[in-house]
Amino acid sequence: MTSPILVTGGTGTLGRFLVPRLLDAGRDVRVLSRSSRGRGKEHEQGVEFVRGDLITGAGIDAAVDGASVILHCASGKKGDEAATGNLVEAASHQATPPHLVYPSIVGADALSLGYFRSKLHSEQAVADSGLPWTIARFTQFYDYILSGARSMAKLPVVPVPAGFRVQPIDPDEVAARLVELALGDPAGRVEDLGGPQESTWADMVRVYLRTGHRRRPVIPVRLPGLAKVRAGRLLPVGPVTGRKTWEEFLAGKER
Ligand SMILES: NC(=O)c1ccc[n+]([C@@H]2O[C@H](COP(=O)([O-])OP(=O)(O)OC[C@H]3O[C@@H](n4cnc5c(N)ncnc54)[C@H](OP(=O)(O)O)[C@@H]3O)[C@@H](O)[C@H]2O)c1
Repeated sequence: MTSPILVTGGTGTLGRFLVPRLLDAGRDVRVLSRSSRGRGKEHEQGVEFVRGDLITGAGIDAAVDGASVILHCASGKKGDEAATGNLVEAASHQATPPHLVYPSIVGADALSLGYFRSKLHSEQAVADSGLPWTIARFTQFYDYILSGARSMAKLPVVPVPAGFRVQPIDPDEVAARLVELALGDPAGRVEDLGGPQESTWADMVRVYLRTGHRRRPVIPVRLPGLAKVRAGRLLPVGPVTGRKTWEEFLAGKER
């Protein structure tokens, strides 16, 4: 058995695309998450599931033990900074320091909203860890926009923040990029990656409704505190973009 790649949050939206891609690349994979979704699949197809909690510290030492690369994809509603700090601490005690790869979010340094701030602090913990590291920022995943659109479409009219500029991406394309980074040398902060089309939240919801043959008025509502979003700070910088469009993503989904 080769030294495994640890995927924290390997059962999540991104992690579920990452794990098979790493296996296809011939790597042994270890997954850390709190739930028992992996129970009964231990050692199946080169995947080892470790149950643990990055916030309480349970299971972390077993998860990082002997890992050559850590893809840190675990994320929760709160506590991400503590989780990243605990992971860094445990990884620092390894005889051979693992390469820590961290998917962050475009706009982490632009918005003072709680989630973005915690991503920025986690980035700093990774960069200051003393471990070899790579950080890439990605835009919102299509799944996230889809789940919001599904909920909002239950209403007779669909309110969305006005001028909310986005360039979301297919999470499998994020996974492909992360595998490339994980199998390469530590690279520090690399280019952002977003999807192929800039849009607005309102227009993406309109496309969702249209492709599902549903008629609902979409009402853009101007909200305070979003001037930086309207100015494009959630858009990726740089020439590299994903390929799958929102329409192509929706074609494979139940609406
Ligand atoms: N979603 C987006 O639009 C987006 C955009 C850019 C970057 N990102 C980043 O990409 C990463 C993955 O996002 P995602 O959308 O795939 O997240 P997700 O679907 O919410 O999955 C989160 C994963 O983390 C695990 N987890 C949560 N808290 C944990 C804890 N305390 N200890 C151990 N495991 C824990 C969850 O499993 P359990 O609940 O079973 O523990 C799950 O496997 C995150 O860092 C996120 O910030 C996301």
